[in-house]
Amino acid sequence: FSNLKAADTIKVLGPLGNGFPTDSKSTILIGGGIGIPPMLEVAKQLEGEKIIVLGFRDSDTFLAEELESYGNVYIASEDGSIGTKGNVLDAIRENDLNAKRILACGPTPMLRAIKKYAKEKGIECFLSLEEKMACGIGACLACTCKSSDIDSHSKVRNKRVCTEGPVFNALEVEL
Ligand code: FES
Repeated sequence: FSNLKAADTIKVLGPLGNGFPTDSKSTILIGGGIGIPPMLEVAKQLEGEKIIVLGFRDSDTFLAEELESYGNVYIASEDGSIGTKGNVLDAIRENDLNAKRILACGPTPMLRAIKKYAKEKGIECFLSLEEKMACGIGACLACTCKSSDIDSHSKVRNKRVCTEGPVFNALEVEL
């Protein structure tokens, strides 16, 4: 990409995989770090009431203003320089935020903690996973993640992030 010039042509394959549910239901959208940009498009498409919780390392935030057009935005920062000091779940607890569903994208430790939180609270939860991908179309198995159930064809606990995902019901996958 660094060698491309304006107006050069590149081939793009996509969109691949699935997406978050966008039907009307009260929802907390959670984005952490590089998981924040995908949530902007989800916020645009999502019907119904939404609360947006963003996790940053410090006060060097991005997209928070754009996301404010779509719902109340709460921020957590690791160093406490903006919003709640801590992570996105600290911001949810501090502000007593509730909804019927959580949609989240971000680093795996964050997703793991959100899955646990949602399970404890009985909240429906969908997570967008990131894995290294090769073919992108379900053929090479480079992108598999561990699933809760055994695949009927291969008899292993695997799901392909590029094809069955990247968005999974949190109960379907092991993190
Ligand atoms: Fe090849 Fe997912 S990237 S199966």
